[in-house]
Amino acid sequence: MNTDKLKETVARLVKPPKGILAIDESFNTCGERFLKLGVPNIEDKRREYRELLITAPKIEKYISGYILFDETINQETVAGKSFVSVLQSKGIEVGIKVDAGTTNFSGHEGEKITKGLDGLEKRLKEYKELGATFAKWRAVYRIGVNTPSFDCMEKNAEIFVKYAILCQKNDIVPIVEPEILIDGNHTIEKCYQVTARNLDMVFSKLRSANVFMPGIILKTSMVLSGKDSRDKSFTEKIAEITLKCLKEHVPADIGGIVFLSGGQADADATMNINEMHKMGDLPWPLTFSYGRAIQNPALESWAKNPADVSGAQKLLLQAAKNNSLASTGEYKYKA
Ligand code: 13P
Repeated sequence: MNTDKLKETVARLVKPPKGILAIDESFNTCGERFLKLGVPNIEDKRREYRELLITAPKIEKYISGYILFDETINQETVAGKSFVSVLQSKGIEVGIKVDAGTTNFSGHEGEKITKGLDGLEKRLKEYKELGATFAKWRAVYRIGVNTPSFDCMEKNAEIFVKYAILCQKNDIVPIVEPEILIDGNHTIEKCYQVTARNLDMVFSKLRSANVFMPGIILKTSMVLSGKDSRDKSFTEKIAEITLKCLKEHVPADIGGIVFLSGGQADADATMNINEMHKMGDLPWPLTFSYGRAIQNPALESWAKNPADVSGAQKLLLQAAKNNSLASTGEYKYKA
């Protein structure tokens, strides 16, 4: 493990005023998003859409790294340039989703654990050869009456450890992504408790396995009430409770924290992170790693009018810029 190399990659990824763009939707997730907009989920359309995202002019002003999916890391532009080389020519770090989705956690109704450890080291070496400098592994937890259970949190944390060790051994920065889902009618306080307990579990396992803390990035959900909850919190409350949770349950020596948008309204995801930066004085670099909250307007525009690539790219750039401003607390909302 080359600790300097890991730290350098982390520093490039979380350097203000930039954040990460996630375009690593699996076949299924991409299919769901395409289907809603009437786009067929075929390789050619996925390639075409991702080309638009990857070749957007000047996106490197706002985006430090792209997280790709296995299919995408091997694809090329119509002009025959590999997607990886396009990103590298703009100084953008290449990341790769390496988990293989989730599977039912046996004996635990409704709970999931993440799969993909089989053959992981071999794949990491291949991705590194292709140019990847960081990776992502996501676990999901649904808030219910008795979930997430201790066992589910423990099992996913143990899997995170195996993933993180293999990444660091290969000088790839692991993004550890425990996502508390927004689904449900829970209160923000309940989300706080669950997030706090889970972060304690994840970091105690990572620490006891001697994972190199400055060489990892945490990708987390914000502390929010469930999307079906009647208790809707305002930006200030979300920012305050999220920062409290992170300050109390995330070690100060990790490389950085990035947020997923998780199905929040695009503008909320931007304003929440902006508010956190206005509250200031954070122990770790803190920025975004959004998928939907940056892609949504561009995807909708392209689905309607695939020929207008530059129109869709302008929308992508604007969303990336808004979040870049938010990552330093300088975003001003315009209705
Ligand atoms: P969203 O911002 O759309 O939640 O996606 C981020 C991500 O990478 C989920 O794993």
